[in-house]
Amino acid sequence: MLTMLPPLLIDIVGIVAAFLLMFGLWRMSSPVTAPAGIKVAGIGMVAAVAASFLYVFNISPAAHPHLPVNLALAGIALAVGGGLAWWGGRKVAMTAMPQMVALYNGMGGGAAGAIAAMELFGNHARGVTQLGVTLLGAIIGAVSLSGSLIAWAKLQGVLNKPLRIKGQQIINAVVMLATLAVGFYILFIVQSGTVPVLSLQALICLFFGCAMLFGILMTLPIGGADMPVVISIYNAFTGLAVGLEGFVLQTPALMIAGMLVGAAGILLTLLMAKAMNRSVSNVLFTNFGDVVKQKQGAIKGSLKPTAAGDAGIAMRYAGSVIIVPGYGLAAAQGQQKLYEFVKLLIAAGVKVRFAVHPVAGRMPGQMDVLLAEAGVPYDLIFQLEDINDDFAATDIVLVIGANDVVNPSARSDKSSPIFGMPILNADKAKQVYVVKRGEGKGYAGIVNPLFYADNCNMVYGDAQAVMVEMIEAVRGLGLSAAA
Ligand code: TAP
Repeated sequence: MLTMLPPLLIDIVGIVAAFLLMFGLWRMSSPVTAPAGIKVAGIGMVAAVAASFLYVFNISPAAHPHLPVNLALAGIALAVGGGLAWWGGRKVAMTAMPQMVALYNGMGGGAAGAIAAMELFGNHARGVTQLGVTLLGAIIGAVSLSGSLIAWAKLQGVLNKPLRIKGQQIINAVVMLATLAVGFYILFIVQSGTVPVLSLQALICLFFGCAMLFGILMTLPIGGADMPVVISIYNAFTGLAVGLEGFVLQTPALMIAGMLVGAAGILLTLLMAKAMNRSVSNVLFTNFGDVVKQKQGAIKGSLKPTAAGDAGIAMRYAGSVIIVPGYGLAAAQGQQKLYEFVKLLIAAGVKVRFAVHPVAGRMPGQMDVLLAEAGVPYDLIFQLEDINDDFAATDIVLVIGANDVVNPSARSDKSSPIFGMPILNADKAKQVYVVKRGEGKGYAGIVNPLFYADNCNMVYGDAQAVMVEMIEAVRGLGLSAAA
């Protein structure tokens, strides 16, 4: 009876943890409830990890002598992993989030691969189904590990150029076929008891090596700018691998959590691709992130620079202002100063709202997090579909560090790489001010006709420095922030 208790407890805690993960994920769907959602999911994770220690009460007598060493190793692994994650999470810059996600995602894939390796080396997996699922989880986990590490290296600037070789797709296909062939061979020899050409251990190493090589080859040719979508795909892979290994270990919590992450990753990938009007295969197999040559002749008008102070004062006397934040705001860490400026405008009676594009910045939800970090109330933040019709009736639009998400060529220029991508209708406002440092292009590497339009003025400078100038100019008028 007593020996039944730990497995029962593990199962109960597992189910509760899975429920907490699902509930937490559901709460993450809104910026208002997301912080609480993350905490709930975190509690679920801690409960699942703590419950796994109950296995010590249910091990075979043969394993007893190894218990102290294994417990110490688990404690060290938890302390090192948890400590590094705690320290890294606290100090990471908002613009460096994608590489952190890539790294942690790779760790998840690696963990799934490690479970599979333990099962394979220990010859625990029994029957065609269990062995097949172990091998499938191993491939997906290993691809996710090596692919995510390459994605991290690209985002971190360690690998600067996409590496493309002639016949890349064929080489990738050959490596994948080799991985599958070795996998089937392992399945065959384990099932039939045939003596293998190489030792089973060597075959398992070869199998993992091929899968990891595939992840590397698959990711190397993709441009650095496409990495967020690639990470999202690998995120789905990791979830799937964890779910499959959960099936092998017969652990419901792992199965549910893995499938949840897998489904969320697939949905996120599709949403990102849709918001950029691209297919996932286009991201994986074309070179969108590279510099795109665009016919400059199509652009009419001229760039009209204006002083930051003048733009700030114009907004102070406007009736309504919509602010469009983009990647440059995150890069400049200008969100606090921006909100300080907004509070001045609101105190002066201006109606101010923020318009957030689904793929503004470099990762999903980056602008929502950035604005929340600065303390911007959620009722001032609007998503594209909720505010896009209001631009035409707005006095001034302040585009700050954004570019592609307000590029009107997406509507009409069939030759544009972003043709068809829904954009924020900033160009339809009476007056537009664009804050950016110079004539740098956005992620898509294309010219933005909005900057040359009659109703648009450029405010050149780092987003944070420009906001400081705007605040000083408006304060100089003798008004103070209400907050
Ligand atoms: P971008 O089009 O990348 O434009 C950012 C602009 O910010 C640049 O033109 C740059 O011009 C300016 N900038 C950079 N640093 C600055 C600073 N310190 N101060 C002021 N301005 C600065 O950004 P966006 O409009 O946010 O669009 C996002 C793009 O990323 C879209 O094309 C989207 O498809 C892509 N993307 C997004 C995601 C997700 S999920 N968010 C994932 C993958 C790809 P200067 O150099 O002249 O300053």
